[in-house]
Amino acid sequence: MMSKQPLWTADEITAATGGKATGDFEISGVAFDSREVEDGFLFVAMPGTVHDGHDFVAGAFEKGAAAALVSQPVEGPHVLVDDVPAALEAMARAARARLSDDAVVIGVTGSVGKTSTKEAIAAALERLAPGRVHRSVKSYNNHTGVPLSLARMPREALFAVQEMGMNHSGEIAGLTRMTRPHVAVITAIGPAHIENLGSIEAIADAKGEIFEGLEPGGVAIVPEETDQRERLVKAARGFAERILTVGGTEGDAAVKHSAPARSGGSLVTARLPGRTLTFTISQPGDHWVQNALTVLTVVSQIGGDVARAALALTEMGGLEGRGARHRVEIEGGEILLIDESYNANPVSMEATLKSLGAEKAARKVVVLGTMKELGDTGPAAHAALAAPVEAAGVSLAILVGEEMAPLADALSLTPIEVVHVNDAAGATTNLLSMMRPGDAVLVKASNSMGLGKLVAKVAGDAA
Ligand SMILES: Nc1ncnc2c1ncn2[C@@H]1O[C@H](COP(=O)(O)OP(=O)(O)OP(=O)(O)O)[C@@H](O)[C@H]1O
Ligand SMILES: [Mg+2]
Repeated sequence: MMSKQPLWTADEITAATGGKATGDFEISGVAFDSREVEDGFLFVAMPGTVHDGHDFVAGAFEKGAAAALVSQPVEGPHVLVDDVPAALEAMARAARARLSDDAVVIGVTGSVGKTSTKEAIAAALERLAPGRVHRSVKSYNNHTGVPLSLARMPREALFAVQEMGMNHSGEIAGLTRMTRPHVAVITAIGPAHIENLGSIEAIADAKGEIFEGLEPGGVAIVPEETDQRERLVKAARGFAERILTVGGTEGDAAVKHSAPARSGGSLVTARLPGRTLTFTISQPGDHWVQNALTVLTVVSQIGGDVARAALALTEMGGLEGRGARHRVEIEGGEILLIDESYNANPVSMEATLKSLGAEKAARKVVVLGTMKELGDTGPAAHAALAAPVEAAGVSLAILVGEEMAPLADALSLTPIEVVHVNDAAGATTNLLSMMRPGDAVLVKASNSMGLGKLVAKVAGDAA
């Protein structure tokens, strides 16, 4: 978002952190990854397990940094503090505290759909207050990402949308107290990170911590269709003034009618808090219908124009790695390549396989890679994908990674052609030789499987 005033002055940074500045300077942005540094930025030298940020200070100045936040004196303008991560958190708290009283902060967590929902909320709010919406970017949703995102928040922001993620219980409690949302959203509960948390109830409890940071009079938004619903509602009681559920037929926001839209997305009539609305969503799949309901519920709760906000859903483009669609020319015609390479877990796999099933295509192909962090539940969860793969009408399945063996076994009992390879390179070679004009190809795996490279290669080569 554009800002007229400096993001930070040296005085403001020292006031927030208790550090000592070498001089007077103005800051236009904040980064702890030196590759992100631009002219006028504050470079935050975070300690690391492998690399110490102080090793990158000189490089950051070369890239135009105006100053550095450090715990050891360095060449060049800087603020010297005892503890850099603590100082960044202090800046985050100060940035949150200086927002005007009419600003609205929205926190988003959940097992899947956080980034999708966060982006859609920000796009919707942009319709209501153009140029005055701040949002967290990338996967800046953890104990360093949240403070960074808040420290980047301009004082003029009218809306701020912050994603919060976790690997362990207790994490979101800290993040939400820093963020102090007026509206706290849980998108979905599923077995992502079950390895660390042990049970779905523990996951629900960990996500439910987001309500602990709600401002007085705040709103809690939870999914209707999860067996953890009551647990989430209970977690919100005592912190939220209003608790709304989204989805199903009984939710405070619910779909009355949904049909595939000509554009490839959905045409939805929904009962929203306070009104019924018909709108189109550019992104296909029931999971996007759910995300859209969440977005419009948020807008309704902050008194925004819901119909106007819905226009953002109609025009929203696909997010890279999270459903971006590429029409790729190949010899004899074209294929549709659906890029879901950024993330995979049982819930999102099922959701996207279902929307693949609804695609009109001569042939359906999947390139599916390992779902990470499932612990003991991994083999069964991978095998269980056989049913949604079959239901989607898939003809060819290219499976990537050792953990896919149970799915390869399960699919061998079906007429589906299966190719099982070790890595993204193997999958790329196979897809390039096996794809045919008219194919719809869904590419999905945990990000670390590297299928983004397959997408770049297939989409790029053909382009
Ligand atoms: N409401 C939803 N329910 C189920 N699946 C969803 C939903 N929204 C998005 N998805 C699917 O989940 C994938 C990941 O979405 P997204 O990146 O928004 O999740 P995230 O929670 O931000 O993940 P991360 O934990 O990596 O930050 C998408 O590519 C899509 O396949
Ligand atoms: Mg995310």
